[in-house]
Amino acid sequence: MSERAHSDVVVAIDGPSGSGKSSTSRGVAARLGLRYLDTGAMYRAMTWWLLERGVPVDDAAAVVARCDEPVIDSGTDPLAPTITADGVDVSEAIRSPEVTGAVSAVSAVPEVRARLLRLQREAIGGGGIVVEGRDIGAVVAPDAEVKVYLTADPAARAARRAAEEGGTDLAATESSLLARDRVDSTRAASPLTMAAGAVHVDTTPYTLDEVVTLIVGLVEDAVEDRR
Ligand code: DC
Repeated sequence: MSERAHSDVVVAIDGPSGSGKSSTSRGVAARLGLRYLDTGAMYRAMTWWLLERGVPVDDAAAVVARCDEPVIDSGTDPLAPTITADGVDVSEAIRSPEVTGAVSAVSAVPEVRARLLRLQREAIGGGGIVVEGRDIGAVVAPDAEVKVYLTADPAARAARRAAEEGGTDLAATESSLLARDRVDSTRAASPLTMAAGAVHVDTTPYTLDEVVTLIVGLVEDAVEDRR
């Protein structure tokens, strides 16, 4: 199948942190010649910007007052994803423990979600993209042809996250993941849920390559079914 056949497909990949979403989404996009959008990075860039300016992120009114200001720009090359806030490359800064600790509070604010939703839909444009996040299949791109909900055992997720972040305290990483899941799944605005029509993939027993191959197969089937 040619890459052209996929040029307008939208692949929504949702799930909790450490489920393998980012590596999987980048892998699928790279194999199919699609663009890639990390919406979690956008919430993190917003959070980084607010923290830099001393905005108390637990005060929703203070967040609302400033959340239209930052210019957040996401590069969509799956082999070299980039993100800037007001032109500053924040790819590394957004992975700091300070940002990780504050991002759930910021992403629970409806005005933040509305602003980033607009940017996400602009980036998706006419499709040809793999989009990862928490509410992509349900809210951002409900018409996506392929929706995947990735999960993994908490211990496997903590091990992956600790490896990514260079951390060694697995128990602490696991409890911070679970705490963030609780906030992300119980907030009023667009909580993390499995979208209607999503395929649930538990990645625990599989290698990254196996999960990528499985999702690439789902995309090929969806494009084939159009004919
Ligand atoms: O995937 P991540 O850990 O980089 O996401 C960071 C935070 O952003 C996460 O705690 C939940 C939030 N998020 C969200 O609310 N909606 C999205 N579409 C993506 C991320």
